[in-house]
Amino acid sequence: MTSPPSPPDDDLFAAARRARQHAHAPYSGFKVGAAIRAEDGRIHAGANVENAAYPQSQCAEATAIGAMVTAGARRILEVAVVADSPEPISPCGGCRQRLAEFAAPEVKVHLCGPDGAVRRTVTMGDLLPFAFGEGHLASRE
Ligand code: THU
Repeated sequence: MTSPPSPPDDDLFAAARRARQHAHAPYSGFKVGAAIRAEDGRIHAGANVENAAYPQSQCAEATAIGAMVTAGARRILEVAVVADSPEPISPCGGCRQRLAEFAAPEVKVHLCGPDGAVRRTVTMGDLLPFAFGEGHLASRE
């Protein structure tokens, strides 16, 4: 009896699942966890952090990016996002831009259910084609 194939990096999914458990989502009731494997080999995780002043809320991906940058890493190699939704979770537009700041178009983003199992894997290029980036600032004055 063989076990089902394990995801590419089990720790990434465990970290996203664990982060989700700490989500502060009393307003939407929608808990999200995100984890990033960075070029330093470490995994940086975060949860969504909502606020009574709704627009001040922060997505899980943004929290994970903040943890990564604070730890001194700058390149995203792989991402997992964990949530419980009828369709696979999909990073919001703003978080696509935030991720693209540190992730190349070929970087995989695993969209997972609450148990951490992958429901769909996409690339950053799929999520944000024709992204605005540093190159567009070349002519800044
Ligand atoms: N949310 C995330 O944290 N990440 C996503 O990829 C989609 C949405 C959060 C924002 C808000 O706290 C809650 O989910 C409902 O929109």
